[in-house]
Amino acid sequence: MYEEFYNLACAPFHNTPDSRFFFETEQHKEALAKLEYTVRNRQGFALVTGEIGSGKTTLSRMLIRRMGQDARVALINNTRVSSHQLLKLIAIEYGIETPAICDKATLLTLIRRYIENQHSLGRYLVVIIDEGQCLNIDEFEEIRLLTNLENETEKLVQLLILGQPELRKILKHNRLTPLIQRIVMYTHLQPMTFEETARYIEFRLLRAGKERLDVDFSQQALHVIHERAAGIPRLVNLICDNALLVGYSRDTHLVDSQIVTAAISQILPNFNDEPADIMAAAPPPGAGQEMDHGRRL
Ligand SMILES: Nc1ncnc2c1ncn2[C@@H]1O[C@H](COP(=O)(O)OP(=O)(O)OP(=O)(O)O)[C@@H](O)[C@H]1O
Ligand SMILES: [Mg+2]
Repeated sequence: MYEEFYNLACAPFHNTPDSRFFFETEQHKEALAKLEYTVRNRQGFALVTGEIGSGKTTLSRMLIRRMGQDARVALINNTRVSSHQLLKLIAIEYGIETPAICDKATLLTLIRRYIENQHSLGRYLVVIIDEGQCLNIDEFEEIRLLTNLENETEKLVQLLILGQPELRKILKHNRLTPLIQRIVMYTHLQPMTFEETARYIEFRLLRAGKERLDVDFSQQALHVIHERAAGIPRLVNLICDNALLVGYSRDTHLVDSQIVTAAISQILPNFNDEPADIMAAAPPPGAGQEMDHGRRL
């Protein structure tokens, strides 16, 4: 909508794990390098936790991209399933043909066969479980049995589990000690620092920009964004996207703190002490200009 106005080729703050927009903060960079190392050395089991929206899924997409054709990846997003369904999902992700009615033992055999075959062809077999905090103990145990596949020197299946901080609590369960002992890489993604937030915004704008980008964020605006988003990339995106809309509606190429504050007041009630209802009727005549312009969008 505002792309042309700011001379952008596409929207810079889309909330999707698009690898073209991957910004390497020190920790994202380090985590990605460690994950790739764990997989390429067939070390077994890696765990990544982080606050909601901190970049876990994005990180896993980057790993898949980096591994390219070297790996066969089963990416499991839907973790609210039984352990049998979980195995079925893994089989589907690997493209293994299974009979319509297939008991667990057969399913496991088929998956094992596939894994051994692909391994013998030199491929890395990766299982990525996203939203791991939704898994229960039984499912974790099932997955562990799968990762037990190994030869004398290496693990045949590389398991990456991603989840929100409460995942750590679930993994403390006694029955999961064998799994925990097998973790060779663990990272907790921290929110970005102010400097990172500022560079993140600049990076995404440049990535989306045409030759001459026609938009600027004031230092004060960057501070407000960082503070309100608490350094969480998803929230930074949300605020910036709305700030660009407000700027566009006010016909200005400079996003200042006033614009950011107006944008925030229109997004989520929890950003503001005084929730603003963006669906509400137009404000009474003479009400603040900021809201007037914002609502017209
Ligand atoms: N390093 C990064 N570079 C660029 N964009 C990022 C980065 N990390 C996160 N983002 C952006 O933030 C959004 C949210 O990130 P992501 O979905 O990876 O978070 P998450 O930790 O998986 O969240 P949830 O806990 O809800 O699953 C992404 O869609 C992406 O646009
Ligand atoms: Mg995620």
